[in-house]
This record gives sequence, structure tokens and C-alpha cells, in this order.
Amino acid sequence: MVPDSGPRVLLGVSGGIAAYKAADLVRRLRERGCVVRVVMTEAATAFVSPLTFQALSGAPVRISLLDPAAEAGMGHIELARWAQRILFAPATADLIARLAAGLADDLPTTLALATRAPLYLAPAMNQQMWLHPATQDNLERLRARGARILGPAQGSQACGDLGPGRMLEPIEIATALLADLLPDAVNPPPSTAAAGPLAGVRTMVTAGPTREPLDPVRFLGNRSSGQMGYALAAALAQLGAEVCLISGPTALPGPAGVTRVDVETAAQMHAAVFERIGTIDLFVAAAAVADYRPAAPAERKIKKETAELTLQLIRNPDILAEVAALPHPPFTVGFAAETDQVEAHALAKLSGKGLDLIAANQVGGDQGGFERAENALICLWREGRRVLPMMPKTRLAGELAQLITERYLA
Ligand code: PMT
Repeated sequence: MVPDSGPRVLLGVSGGIAAYKAADLVRRLRERGCVVRVVMTEAATAFVSPLTFQALSGAPVRISLLDPAAEAGMGHIELARWAQRILFAPATADLIARLAAGLADDLPTTLALATRAPLYLAPAMNQQMWLHPATQDNLERLRARGARILGPAQGSQACGDLGPGRMLEPIEIATALLADLLPDAVNPPPSTAAAGPLAGVRTMVTAGPTREPLDPVRFLGNRSSGQMGYALAAALAQLGAEVCLISGPTALPGPAGVTRVDVETAAQMHAAVFERIGTIDLFVAAAAVADYRPAAPAERKIKKETAELTLQLIRNPDILAEVAALPHPPFTVGFAAETDQVEAHALAKLSGKGLDLIAANQVGGDQGGFERAENALICLWREGRRVLPMMPKTRLAGELAQLITERYLA
């Protein structure tokens, strides 16, 4: 009997060699308190027996859409409504294509259409199939509809190839899924994080605003709350990275497992970054750094003695551009905060600053950007582009961390 309380996860297994890892995934999800039901494609049954999944999940496994006995129990529409998350692991290239096209030609794809539960995919396929533009286009369509893509990892493949396409380890998939489902309950032990795809990667993230003093009590600042950068630092740490967070003034607690260095001005942020940059492999600039600072901050509080006051501002160093211009730069990721022509300005920053990746967001409107809990990003790199639609910053950070990992490892 399946326990009836706990997060309800519907696991769809499709036909690839990684199907054997899905058995361990059921175990990992159940260990974490999930109620798991399994559906399989016909092809998946050639790799692992439905009985294996039945024994591990404690519930009957469904394969056919047209099974009168099964429909008399929990019908497929009921099953689709029951699920709080639908996870396809492994998700083969064929399954991804069918999901992207909105087909309902077997039980798993029908359930994906009949549900309102968020969709998660853990792709697994040959590296050439993964890199094929058709697969990448299909993934882009699914992402644009809000599906979350977990992995794949790099490495040697069952077919003998080397490259991206290995399914993430079950524990990584379970952790990512549960982090969204139960953000407070899941705090993976350091040993789990250290095993992620960024294990041993020394990472620095800048976050939050800077404050540029005008006098001892006033400053020039901006609306950054630090949420985006902090969420990203946490997401990178969850993928196994060693993360140093250089933070401007925020009201946020430091993420677990992340070393935090507090600064106030752009000059202090510049100094804190360059003190440590020599050992950094991956640099992510999410901070909203003031481009200018008052040329001569007053030593005493400025009095309102005149009708007008003119401030002289001087340029601050561009921390991101200086990091990217180092003789041996880390993999460098920038942000672009724009009120208009978001993509054009971001492209100019990508090439102008010599970055590996840029994440551009619209700021100054009613949605996303500064201070808000949600955001959307257009991510650009020399050979590609990925749109991450509006979603909570915690989840968006997970998606961006995943993309950074893919590009860093490519
Ligand atoms: O903090 P939140 O409230 O969650 O809001 C998130 C955010 C909008 C601040 C974030 O998503 C974001 O866009 N951060 C970058 C803001 C910014 O300063 O963008 P920019 O286009 O002005 O700068 C481009 C890049 O250069 C950024 O990576 C910035 O960190 C970097 N930069 C800029 C100036 C400077 N002197 N040094 C820098 O390193």
C-alpha cells in the first residue's frame, strides 16, 4: 500500500538505458517522504520490469492508456489530478519531442497534457542527440511553458561517447525536485551538495546594491534587494560549488553553506572581489553596482543652505569587465538590467565586456527585476540563447544555475 500523505510525485519512465537509475530515484523520493506513482512508456519496459517499480513504489505501475482494469481503479485523468509534480526520468529525445509537440499518444504524454502539476524532465540520451538543434528547440519550447529541465550531466555514456547527455544522479534529481516542492524542508547535507556537477568549482557571486556616500548620513543607492543574487548563490551551492558571496547591504540572511563578505560601496566590492579572484573558477555578477559615485563626499552632513545643489560624480570601476579582462579569467557571467531594448543592450554587454554568458532582465516595470520575488531572464551566450519565463526568483536561480553549469562544463 502507498502511504497517502506526503508530496505526490508522478514519475514517468521512458525507454533509455538510464531507466535503471529511475528505480533508485523512486527509493530516494520515498526516503524523503514522497508518495510516488510510476507510469512507463512501452519502450521503458524493455529496460526495467514494471514489477521493479511496483515493489519500490508500493503501488501498481501503469503502462497503457487503454487498460480497462486500471481505468476502473484510478483513471488517467484522476492520476493527472492527483500529481503535485510530474517528473520524467529518464526523458529521452523522443519523449521530449512528443511533449513539446503536445502529443497524447501514450499514457505518460497524455498525463502531461491532462495535469496542471509542474513538469520536470531529467533528460538522458546520446550526446549528439542532446546537442541536435531539434532537441534543443523542443527543450526551449518546454522551458517557455514552464517545464524545469534537470541536467543532463557530462561524462562517458553507455554508447561509448563522451559529452553531455547522462541523466543526473537520482539523489540530485530528488534534491532539485524537493527543493521546489518543500523549500523549507529540504536542506541537503553538505555531502550531497559536494557530490553535485559543480563539486570543487570555486565560485564567486556578487549580489545586492552598493551605497555611494554623499555625506555621513546620505548615499546614492538603487532598488536591488539582493534576492536574485542570494538565490543564485544558494542554487550554485546546491549544485556542489564552493560559493563566496560578495554582498552589498541587504536585509537577507546568508544562504546555508555559502561564505558571505559584506561590503557597502562599489570600491569596497571591487576590492573584495580582487582580493580573492585569483582562485576563482566561476564568477557571477548579479550585484547592481553604482556606475558613478560622488566625487567628494562631504565630511559633515550637507545643510540645505542653497536653492540648488550640484553633485559631481565620477565613474566607478566596472568590476565585471575587469574580471573578464584578466589574463586568465574565470568563466564569467554577467547580468544586464535594462528598461528598454533588453536583448540588444545585453548582447552589446556580452561582447563589449567579453563575457561567457549574460542574463538580461527588464527593470523598472510592474513585474520582475528589482525588489520583487519573481523575475524573468533572457540568457545569451555566443552560440545560443535561452528564455527563462517569469517565475519565483528561487526557482529561476535554479534554472540559471543549471544553464551556467551546462555552459561551464561544455
Ligand atoms: O536584487 P534584486 O532585487 O533581486 O534584483 C535583481 C537585479 C535586477 C539586481 C539583478 O537581476 C540584476 O539585473 N543585476 C545586475 C544589475 C546591474 O547593475 O546591471 P547593469 O546592466 O547595470 O550592469 C551589467 C553588469 O555589470 C552586471 O552584471 C553588474 O553586476 C556589472 N557591473 C556593473 C557596474 C559596475 N561598476 N561593476 C559591475 O560589475
